[in-house]
Amino acid sequence: MLQKVQRNTVNAEAGYMPGFGNHFATEAVAGALPQGQNSPQKTPFGLYAEQLSGTAFTAPRSENRRSWLYRLRPSANHPPYTPYAAPRTDEQPALPASPNRLRWDPQPWPETAVDFVDAMICWAGNGSPLGQTGVGIHLYTATASMERRCFYSADGEMLIVPQEGALDLITEMGVIEASPGEIAVIPRGVRFRVELPEGKARGYICENFGSPFRLPDLGPIGANGLANPRDFQTPVAAFEDVDEPTEVIQRYAGNLWTTAFDHSPLDVVAWHGNLAPVKYDLARFNTINTVSYDHPDPSIFTVLTSPSDTPGTANCDFVIFPPRWMVAEHTFRPPWFHRNVMSEFMGLIHGAYDAKAGGFAPGGASLHNCMSGHGPDQPSYEGAIRAELKPHKIDNTMAFMFETRLPILPSVAAMQSPTCQLDYDDCWTGFAKARLP
Ligand SMILES: [Fe+2]
Repeated sequence: MLQKVQRNTVNAEAGYMPGFGNHFATEAVAGALPQGQNSPQKTPFGLYAEQLSGTAFTAPRSENRRSWLYRLRPSANHPPYTPYAAPRTDEQPALPASPNRLRWDPQPWPETAVDFVDAMICWAGNGSPLGQTGVGIHLYTATASMERRCFYSADGEMLIVPQEGALDLITEMGVIEASPGEIAVIPRGVRFRVELPEGKARGYICENFGSPFRLPDLGPIGANGLANPRDFQTPVAAFEDVDEPTEVIQRYAGNLWTTAFDHSPLDVVAWHGNLAPVKYDLARFNTINTVSYDHPDPSIFTVLTSPSDTPGTANCDFVIFPPRWMVAEHTFRPPWFHRNVMSEFMGLIHGAYDAKAGGFAPGGASLHNCMSGHGPDQPSYEGAIRAELKPHKIDNTMAFMFETRLPILPSVAAMQSPTCQLDYDDCWTGFAKARLP
């Protein structure tokens, strides 16, 4: 049966971000983990050894991620997959791609019972899973737990950002409880079921087709700061011994496929390696900001990055805007006006974002694409240029951004949604013309 005695721990109290040479070993039944080799002729209890590769076999050692799973049945034991449903045409990119700034109100709760898989809707994206570049950006508004079915993405790892309602992520490699204010990352291929302890849950997903998310380098910041590795938590092994039909749904090449296992595939009794689900409490972020003047680039708030082949140009950065002190002198303190070669999809977990006086609600989203001019709205601007610049704490807020090198294409569903704010451009009206001498 499912082991629920230890959750969100790594054989101890602290976790470490997978990769970077960190290696985990965990067993739900004493003696299940082979000692001294990965695939002995006779495994403990006759468990089936399986390597789950998150990088190419030949990836450099510093980049290589893989784990060995020891399970009740081989993963290969299942009938063929068939299309889950007709592909949703409204999840395709709305063409031609709009250069306009876009913003959405929070998605309403469905009136029927909808689980995590059926609640996920592609809102935007770029690149392609076949090209192993770019991201899919999904929203979910779920009202039911998944029952006797699991999901995985063969296309990319899933960075899940809960906004309202906790998620219990029952994964092959253990259980992660993720509440709003925390994030979870499920590696590509890892199967999981989502239970809703509060009955409903809403949030955002970045399905990363590129290189796996990792901690950014710190450069002159030094050995500590931003997201510290010790604050990432991986689960201990936990498994289900359930001989009942279980539907397994996968996303492959952008479409959903389904098959029926005659047992729960969440049957990993022990595992070891450096590829694992992980969660992180955003409140642990060590925020670094200016203590002199001017507003640093938001890259200073990067939690995780998926590098591309071009140095310094991310396939995707996950950036947050956490509570922080603002102390810059003779400075316009909110985010300035800017146009960016990177494209920015933002969400708000709770509170208010300091560049907008209104309209950007928790659960909502905004999209500022490549080279689109954006920045503070007029009331925020007026307030900032008149503010008395005492030390001021921005508190009780958590916004985030998926920033990616490729232009982001909203889906048909996003463009046609009644939550799309048709008057968003009005944010930037009403600015008086500068007066030359
Ligand atoms: Fe921006």
